[in-house]
Amino acid sequence: MSFLLQPDPPERLNRCQLFGPGSRPELFEKMSSSEADVINLDLEDSVSPNDKYKARANIVEAITGIDWGHKTLSVRINGLDTEFWHQDIIDLLKENTERLDCIMIPKAGCSSDIYAVDTLVTALEKQNRWKKSLTFEVIIETAAGIANVDSIAKSSKRLKAISLGAADYAASMGMQTTGIGGTQPNYYMVPSFEESGSSDIKNFSDPWHFPTVKIVAACRANGLLPVDGPFGDFSDDIGFIAQARRSATLGMVGKWAIHPKQIALANSVFSPSQSQIEEATQILEAMDKAEKSGQGAAVYKGRLIDIASIKQAKVILDQAKKIEKIE
Ligand code: COA
Ligand code: MG
Repeated sequence: MSFLLQPDPPERLNRCQLFGPGSRPELFEKMSSSEADVINLDLEDSVSPNDKYKARANIVEAITGIDWGHKTLSVRINGLDTEFWHQDIIDLLKENTERLDCIMIPKAGCSSDIYAVDTLVTALEKQNRWKKSLTFEVIIETAAGIANVDSIAKSSKRLKAISLGAADYAASMGMQTTGIGGTQPNYYMVPSFEESGSSDIKNFSDPWHFPTVKIVAACRANGLLPVDGPFGDFSDDIGFIAQARRSATLGMVGKWAIHPKQIALANSVFSPSQSQIEEATQILEAMDKAEKSGQGAAVYKGRLIDIASIKQAKVILDQAKKIEKIE
């Protein structure tokens, strides 16, 4: 390890973040009784400008009026370029709304965005005598956001998680697509005709790979949770699972659900399977045996394992333990 240590991320599950528009309060009870680890009530882009004040009032009422159990409760505020965001925060941080855990800042573009929100939140917490400290999560969904993600990740002690927002990201980057996440039909490579003997073979690539890895690195270096954002086509379970598996493999801890049918899919991808748990346990046992006989490396099922394998196995087992605690 470098002398610069890697801080641990928050000790909580974040396998699925379920979104619901603040303008549809009839969904709130259903959201609270869902299997999502995190609830995101939305004031931003799923609420039309005419509904902003009503949505805000609905959410403030629901923070205290609904039993959210052990879930992390987060509200997505409006963007810092709007006339709504400051009043969103003022209303969300009333004296009696301390059940709120987090606010989500959309379209974070630079560390000063988070600094500005922090100043207002800090003053309101003092004014309203909050005993707990509100946390932040941000969405990286613009060219500026991805260019500045490292400094954003260091911007505030309140910051706990960063999500990738595929739709706004695509628009901001000028990407030629209307899809929200998933495979993009025009993003493929072809093998050379001489090698393949065919002009029909297409290898589809993942256009979200770069921002995913960039966000994971910024989060891991700063003790934050990296989260994969929305997958718009909620009729496409196979596509959702493929996307979620890719982000899980790259180090993300969870994914948004924009429809309740996506919750179980996200939970299953971001919960280690029985065979992953067994393999991780066996690796620890094999390494324990190796260490006792003075070896730093060993062979497990015909492949090398060493001290790094212990850390890899622990990533899986730590997640399994967190899940066991809530079951
Ligand atoms: N949370 C909890 N329950 C939800 C839900 C949500 N986000 N969205 C829908 N439901 C419920 C419906 O009320 C319905 O319940 P019922 O069986 O008791 O009648 C059931 O799930 C099926 O819903 P369905 O009819 O398929 O969806 P819909 O047409 O009502 O809504 C969406 C579809 C996509 C508009 C809606 O799911 C939605 O607004 N999602 C969140 C969008 C959002 O917040 N975007 C911002 C982040 S990108
Ligand atoms: Mg967005």
